Amino acid sequence: FKTPAVENEPMRSYAPGSEERRGLEAALKQLEQELPFEVPCFVNGKPIKTGKLAKQPIPDSHARHLCVYHEADTATVSAAIDGALAAKNEWEALPWSDRAAIFLKAADLVSGKYRYRLIAATMLGQGKNAWQAEIDAAAELSDFLRFGVKYVEELYQQQPVKNSKGAWNRVEYRPLEGFVLAVSPFNFTAIGGNLVGAPALVGNVVLWKPSPMATYANYLTYQILVEAGIPPGVVQFIPGPPPEVVQQCISHREFAALHFTGSTHVFRTLWKNIAANLDNYRGYPRIVGETGGKNFHVVHESAELTNAVMQTVRGAFEYQGQKCSALSRLYVSSSLWASGFKDKLLQEVAKIKVGPVTDFSAFMGPVIGKPAFDRIVGYIQKAKEAGGEILIGGGADDSTGYFVQPTVILSKDPGSITFVEEIFGPVLSVYVFDDKDFDATLDLVDSTSIYGLTGSIFASDRSTLLRAANRLRNAAGNVYYNEKCTGAVVGQQPFGGARASGTNDKAGSMSIFYRFVSARSIKENF
Ligand code: ALA
Repeated sequence: FKTPAVENEPMRSYAPGSEERRGLEAALKQLEQELPFEVPCFVNGKPIKTGKLAKQPIPDSHARHLCVYHEADTATVSAAIDGALAAKNEWEALPWSDRAAIFLKAADLVSGKYRYRLIAATMLGQGKNAWQAEIDAAAELSDFLRFGVKYVEELYQQQPVKNSKGAWNRVEYRPLEGFVLAVSPFNFTAIGGNLVGAPALVGNVVLWKPSPMATYANYLTYQILVEAGIPPGVVQFIPGPPPEVVQQCISHREFAALHFTGSTHVFRTLWKNIAANLDNYRGYPRIVGETGGKNFHVVHESAELTNAVMQTVRGAFEYQGQKCSALSRLYVSSSLWASGFKDKLLQEVAKIKVGPVTDFSAFMGPVIGKPAFDRIVGYIQKAKEAGGEILIGGGADDSTGYFVQPTVILSKDPGSITFVEEIFGPVLSVYVFDDKDFDATLDLVDSTSIYGLTGSIFASDRSTLLRAANRLRNAAGNVYYNEKCTGAVVGQQPFGGARASGTNDKAGSMSIFYRFVSARSIKENF
């Protein structure tokens, strides 16, 4: 058999008066009436209320919260590990077609029955506007699940090309021995689905620790997996445990893999702790992670001005610059800058409306929370102190929600702090280079940051594009020509970067699945 053909989920426009707009508005209203929700841990398919309560605030109106969740404690995590290991044999033995069916059904539930609820939860809880939430919680999440099935089907077909006479060689792609720990971020509901879904699809059992700031949308995703038929114990939902409880997972003898998206600091800490535990493990844990970025646009004098500006505005300010792929440093040719780029950029940024996510005319919403707000405001301040000129924005207001104005900072010092450190907010640092210094600027782009996630090159002649792409070959795992550096699509642009940005195992492609299988070669003589 072959699993059904897959397509990327078509995006809905939510035009005023449309049926989809009404559907989403109704879901938002219902969620607002029902909140705050109570979210328990789920172990072996059963809720566990630990009584250790924590809140997921609503970023655009922080007096309210979307849910109260029960933090997993030591006993819950022990039960989750034991239960997952007990569920493992049966899950692993399930025919591939049945595992595939569960994920295809989950994808349909995401893009159909639960679409508006998931989007509404992502909007309220993670501060995304409707279109950003559509890209994430409807399209990308269902794409991850559907395309995952295709990739695994393809993976299982990767077989030795030669057989000696009288023998048949073959390879089984077995799940890892032990359990996988998935640690997911706040900024994409879809990433949570993929961090859990990818290992589970190839037969692994998974403990899922969602970001405290995305608990509710991830809890809905967990419930969808259950409705689609994931057996009890295969995915254990353990929200918000403190570091020592996460440590409990990675200290366990049967810990087999970490599937992580989040901050560079946390990833490095976990990696070091895993290394320190190496002698306790049955095997060598796989470590798969995607972390930060300091993503760039380089705009050559030959670039088409309007496109370069529009892509820059979207890359830097969609979702308030909180995508790991978001643009944060812009290097632009001085002749282009002077001949309209600067004016157009400032005009377009001035048009950006910042407001609550339920205001469909707002291009930008709030940043995720108080620590993020303080950090971003702090960077704007540091940029000023370092001599940066705020061309537009710079303001921030956290009286009702965590709102930061889209901010563009011009600096003559390309080594100053906002070109180097990840800000994860709506702050764009601009360096204007002399046209004759294009090659030196490429060196600068490459050497300024420790990261290597995404980047874009804008030029209208191919030799310049190629020269830049070649010079920057290690500076970005996802490079774009004449397009913004965000918005990788599952099945189209495998996503991930190297250097400090992660292990570059490419979400949304077949390569991620190799990391969660342990191949066994079989030779049989006849
Ligand atoms: N995959 C997301 C993007 O490319 C993070 O924007």
